[in-house]
Amino acid sequence: MEKHIIREPIAYEKIPTRIYRDPKEASKSVAVEIAALIREKAKANLPCVLGLATGSSPKTVYAELIRMHREEGLSFKNVIAFNLDEYYPMDPHAVQSYWRFMREQLFDHVDIPEDHYFIPDGTLPESRIADFCREYEHKIDQLGGLDFQLLGIGGNGHIGFNEPGSLINSKTRLMMLDHSTRVAATMDFGGELTKVPKKAITMGVSKILQAKRVVLLAWGERKAEKIADAVEGSVSEQNPASYLQTHPNALF
Ligand code: F6R
Repeated sequence: MEKHIIREPIAYEKIPTRIYRDPKEASKSVAVEIAALIREKAKANLPCVLGLATGSSPKTVYAELIRMHREEGLSFKNVIAFNLDEYYPMDPHAVQSYWRFMREQLFDHVDIPEDHYFIPDGTLPESRIADFCREYEHKIDQLGGLDFQLLGIGGNGHIGFNEPGSLINSKTRLMMLDHSTRVAATMDFGGELTKVPKKAITMGVSKILQAKRVVLLAWGERKAEKIADAVEGSVSEQNPASYLQTHPNALF
């Protein structure tokens, strides 16, 4: 057992769950897993297809990956990344945009080629979104699917922006955001709820579940109840994170 793990998964948990002393140590162990996968794929001359998340939870993982790039020669040249979601509408240069977030938190600091990362486009006319979403999934499929999906979890159990009520077979689509999700985002929009977009484009639950490996991060006590429900309760559309019980290789 790694020395920072407080405890390893236990039998009645329907999703393997590791509890760490602090987010930094947990993030380190996730970054080590991602780095090993990138290197293994590079050795075999294969692309490493990563599904990535925004929000506060993955920031420490990205910081550790950047450190590994700088200090340990970890290259991202073979990485192809697909982000989970983007607000709609959203200007990619706005401070709240997930495109800008990913550039600032990871992509601008590593050697990933500019045409190797994809983030849902918050500038499309609404009439083109359905086609865009189909194409987004098609691109992932053509690469053989996601090798690894990194997830956070919303206070309401959402994964990506698959809000409660999302079906297990839901596709990448335009989604109405839950009131609680918009409230949680108000600080990013100058404290004004009316400025938080009402919609987002999100990768669907089915594409997330098709990833070969899924790791979900949650820090602090605020999300403990939703995590416990997802890990120990029944699979329910009321808590989309519980869908990961059906995944053969997920870790919380
Ligand atoms: C972000 C995303 C969301 C967040 C979730 C948790 O791309 O898909 O599901 O992961 O809202 O956000 P934080 O980490 O800010 O608590």
